[in-house]
Amino acid sequence: MPYGDPNFGVLITCRCKQAEKERRRYEELERLSNLAPLRDKTFATFDRTVPGVQRAFARAYEYAQNPQGWLVLFGGYGCGKTHLAAAIANEALDRHTPVLFTVVPDLLDHLRSTFGPNSETAYDERFELVRDVPLLILDDLGTENTTPWAREKLYQIMNHRYNYALPTVITSNRDPKDIDPRILSRMYDTAICRERIIIEAGDYRRLSLEQRYHSRRRRGDSSRARTQE
Ligand SMILES: Nc1ncnc2c1ncn2[C@@H]1O[C@H](COP(=O)(O)OP(=O)(O)OP(=O)(O)O)[C@@H](O)[C@H]1O
Ligand SMILES: [Mg+2]
Repeated sequence: MPYGDPNFGVLITCRCKQAEKERRRYEELERLSNLAPLRDKTFATFDRTVPGVQRAFARAYEYAQNPQGWLVLFGGYGCGKTHLAAAIANEALDRHTPVLFTVVPDLLDHLRSTFGPNSETAYDERFELVRDVPLLILDDLGTENTTPWAREKLYQIMNHRYNYALPTVITSNRDPKDIDPRILSRMYDTAICRERIIIEAGDYRRLSLEQRYHSRRRRGDSSRARTQE
């Protein structure tokens, strides 16, 4: 840069390196997310006629179009939390928005594994990747069997995302009292999280084959319904 240019003497990553860095970040997020088995969990494959899911479906769908602030989904086993969270992640992938979908205990394991002396990934790099990812989806908050170290790491991630109002989706089937009160307090701040959605639906896994068949037909997936039953 010529003398007098505002960028004179400023270190700037060259464009080809920047693109490579972005690509590596994207690949690392894809590897950490492991969304392949959940690729079919989309809004189209979710039966929104199931009693108790309408509000969650509408809010999750709306959020996926323009993720802002935090979205919190509570509910019992099998009510569709992971499905909706994965649908948001899949939508983001389709739009090429960098997203990390992770089950909380797995996330903490990944962080721990990069902490060891033989780790190929630098710990700080991974921690920052998780902390700053444009869309973070944390499935099953509250199920982690925390050590004080893991508890602090999780808190640091959530506090950072709270301070910078970074888009974050949280699901949990736990009693809120099982969640770190420091994180819970941030989840209850209406400035960042308009509302916490409690899904009242029953366990979809317990539906009979016939009920599932009709569920699939209701969402217009009759070809799949026929081949799978
Ligand atoms: N409304 C729905 N329409 C279609 N499939 C559904 C619906 N609700 C749940 N399912 C399916 O039922 C299974 C269980 O749902 P999901 O994994 O989302 O439950 P969950 O709320 O995350 O439960 P857990 O707390 O046990 O993790 C998944 O295969 C999911 O695709
Ligand atoms: Mg789940």
